[in-house]
Amino acid sequence: MKKIHAAITGIQGYVPEYILSNKELEKLVDTNDEWIVSRTGIKERRILKDKNKGSSDLGAEAIKLLLEKTKTLAEEIDLIICATATPDMLFPSTACLIANKIGANNICAFDVMAACSGFLYGINTASKFIETGTYNKVIVVGCDKMSSIVDYTQRTTCVLFGDGAGAVLMEPNSKGLGIQDAILRSDGGGGEFLKLKAGGSLSPASHETVDAREHYIYQDGQPVFKAAVKSMADVSEEIMKRNNLTSEDVAWLVPHQANKRIIDATSRRMGVGDEKVMLNIERYGNTTTATIPLCLWEWEEKLNKGDNLILAAFGGGFTWGSIYLKWAYDSQK
Ligand code: UT7
Repeated sequence: MKKIHAAITGIQGYVPEYILSNKELEKLVDTNDEWIVSRTGIKERRILKDKNKGSSDLGAEAIKLLLEKTKTLAEEIDLIICATATPDMLFPSTACLIANKIGANNICAFDVMAACSGFLYGINTASKFIETGTYNKVIVVGCDKMSSIVDYTQRTTCVLFGDGAGAVLMEPNSKGLGIQDAILRSDGGGGEFLKLKAGGSLSPASHETVDAREHYIYQDGQPVFKAAVKSMADVSEEIMKRNNLTSEDVAWLVPHQANKRIIDATSRRMGVGDEKVMLNIERYGNTTTATIPLCLWEWEEKLNKGDNLILAAFGGGFTWGSIYLKWAYDSQK
């Protein structure tokens, strides 16, 4: 019997309209366009201004467009996995809220939490349900309203993040296309360098936690940067080696967009030229779980059936990983 792989058969992104530029940030904190661009590669990011909307609204928009584009009915979906670091609320899960918003109320739906690596954890989890024949149509969505946890008085973090969502449809493939291999790792010892201190069971919301601004992202940038450079490059190199891939075999590197310098270090170690690296950090910043699907969405028309893609991410936890997949379709050109 032929092995069943889990393949991406459709991709769609969604970003809110409002553009927060480096110039506007200069009015909020002591920063400047030159510093932000040279240290991160970011020029602008999108912000969901509507106070009545959360990550689930970003995710639901992406999925509605994806269903339309792939001519899929909501009732055909077996499972929705939502990767998010900014769930609408602790529970119900954002996946359940999204399922309801797209009109799929009788399906399996759950969240995965692996911060910026969430999309990779999500598609790898989805692939197991597909490879085992449990489900046939699975949606994995990465959505984050990062502006809800960014402290716009802190120049060290507020310049980095943006809001957005990206969703993929995944289905079985018997022709050898789809996810080939995955390496996913974590090191909870890194948790202290990148976290949201309060609002969980350890430190529930109180006047004190609000006054101490503990409901905003805390990041100690340098140790995160060092770990990201090493870990993302390590796993990308490892996945190439164990699948006997040379840099010529790799059509595209699809990296998490946290910092252009981290991306450059990864592509250098892989020996992959800039022309093969998907990069849109300058327009969206770090959208956490949405960076990788937003890249795939923007590059979709350039992707050909059989292309070897290496997806790589690093994030809070620490979590990191790399996925090797063979693109499964020629997009409409
Ligand atoms: O996606 C999740 C994983 N996250 C990441 O991968 C992020 C990893 N970290 C980074 O990307 C970088 O560490 C940052 C972009 C966050 C910071 O860049 P850096 O080159 O590590 O800067 P730094 O923290 O060492 O700060 C250098 C200087 C400091 O000033 P002094 O102490 O040298 O006078 C900072 O106060 O830059 C200053 N600085 C700024 N200056 C202008 C920090 N933020 C800013 C700013 N504008 N926004």
